[in-house]
Amino acid sequence: GKADVAVIGTGVMGRSLARNFARHGHTVALFDVAPGRAAQVAQEHSAEGNFIPAQDPAELAQSMSTPRVAILLVPAGEPTDQAIDMLCEVFSAGDIIVDMGNSFYVDTERREKLVTQRDLHFVGCGISGGESGALNGPAIMPGGAQKAYERLGPLLESISAQFQGEPCCTWVGPGGAGHYVKMVHNGIEYADMELLSEAYQLLRYRNGMSPKEISEVFSRWNEGPLHSYLLEISADILQHTDAKTNQPFIDIICDEAGQKGTGSWTVQNALTLGAGSTIIAAATFARAVSSQRVHRDLARGVLGEWVPDTAPGGSDLLDNLEKAVYGAKIVAYSQGLSQIRTACKEYGWTVDLAKLASIWRAGCIIQAQLLQDIMETYQDGDFDTPLLLKPAISAVIKDALPAWRAVVSDSIKAGIALPALSAGLAYLDSLRCPSLPTALVQAQRDFFGAHTYRRRDCEGSFHTRWENPQRPEIALS
Ligand code: 6PG
Repeated sequence: GKADVAVIGTGVMGRSLARNFARHGHTVALFDVAPGRAAQVAQEHSAEGNFIPAQDPAELAQSMSTPRVAILLVPAGEPTDQAIDMLCEVFSAGDIIVDMGNSFYVDTERREKLVTQRDLHFVGCGISGGESGALNGPAIMPGGAQKAYERLGPLLESISAQFQGEPCCTWVGPGGAGHYVKMVHNGIEYADMELLSEAYQLLRYRNGMSPKEISEVFSRWNEGPLHSYLLEISADILQHTDAKTNQPFIDIICDEAGQKGTGSWTVQNALTLGAGSTIIAAATFARAVSSQRVHRDLARGVLGEWVPDTAPGGSDLLDNLEKAVYGAKIVAYSQGLSQIRTACKEYGWTVDLAKLASIWRAGCIIQAQLLQDIMETYQDGDFDTPLLLKPAISAVIKDALPAWRAVVSDSIKAGIALPALSAGLAYLDSLRCPSLPTALVQAQRDFFGAHTYRRRDCEGSFHTRWENPQRPEIALS
């Protein structure tokens, strides 16, 4: 028979996803630009289901039933554009091209326009869960035309992760909405990873705990509200001993953190939208700072070696830290979801935040107990109130605040940097403060640049003539 889906690109993700389709009874056409690769993959996994490897695009098109569905898992950027051009040449009206790479949502919207002009559908689709997710069930975030989802939905839902019988796949919204929410998912992923890493740092260097002991703490936390995939793997990593040196693996691994783009795109977009995603930003900058090897080496020489205060951090540190990390996790999710909400208004999408949280409950990297609570919270349909200010959630934040403050102030005194935890606390203190120092910023702007200001006591915009000793105020509107 003919293939009901094609996978283009047989790297780690493409191959895993193709196997997932095949295991669910789909006949999978395979194509890769590297000659012979598709045939090789098909042969290696022939026991798992039906694959039809194609040597060239025309053969690929012929091997598929119509309307065709082709899923791209090729590197973001130029290779994605090339693969789309290739498929447009051989596909026909009504066929669907799905880009499952980590593409920038602006590229997705540009590509959708091009592909649609040729009477094909283009769906920018986020996928999360890494290699094992792709193989065993990822979270899937398709955007693009809703009409394409009629054909695509059953196919994708058949291979996505399931949370208590519900597929972790839903149509997210038109245009670049799918890739946009995947981008913010990754921003939140950066925040989660950094928060856990900061907790590790504090337990290690303030409390003097060994990696194994910290692993046990993480495992215990994982039984409670912090339960998540990233916490579970962190506990696992901290157990691991390097085979070569017999040292804790964490002490062997180089601490310069990499990034492939999605985290910094989230931060750049937050700045463009004026969204307050400060924890995601702090987490992203923490990776950047870690990678400034030359400056770090220089700083230790010039400013002196880092000597943390390792006098015991107080017996409540463990409890306080658990609460602080949980509070910060909620604030990070709240910031990310508010950013999505702002993007919806700016770009004309309507992303259902309850549904989005529901498909993040399994399969993806940020899957966590918290997402169940977020889903339930947003079932009220009010997506404008920030998550952290919703009744049940704000009670948790209130409860966490004193513990969070104790942790951050202690760490500052001790000389241990907690950029994401500190940023989250500063955010909450700023939100609640009725008199922010930005009044002075506004006055400075007006002083040197006549940028005007608004008054608290009446409407309109004003400018003070600062050069005039009388400082007369002019009402501008
Ligand atoms: C996922 C991940 C994945 C992402 C890496 C890269 O949801 O499965 O987000 O899509 O590519 O985690 O992230 P880095 O920027 O850290 O390399």
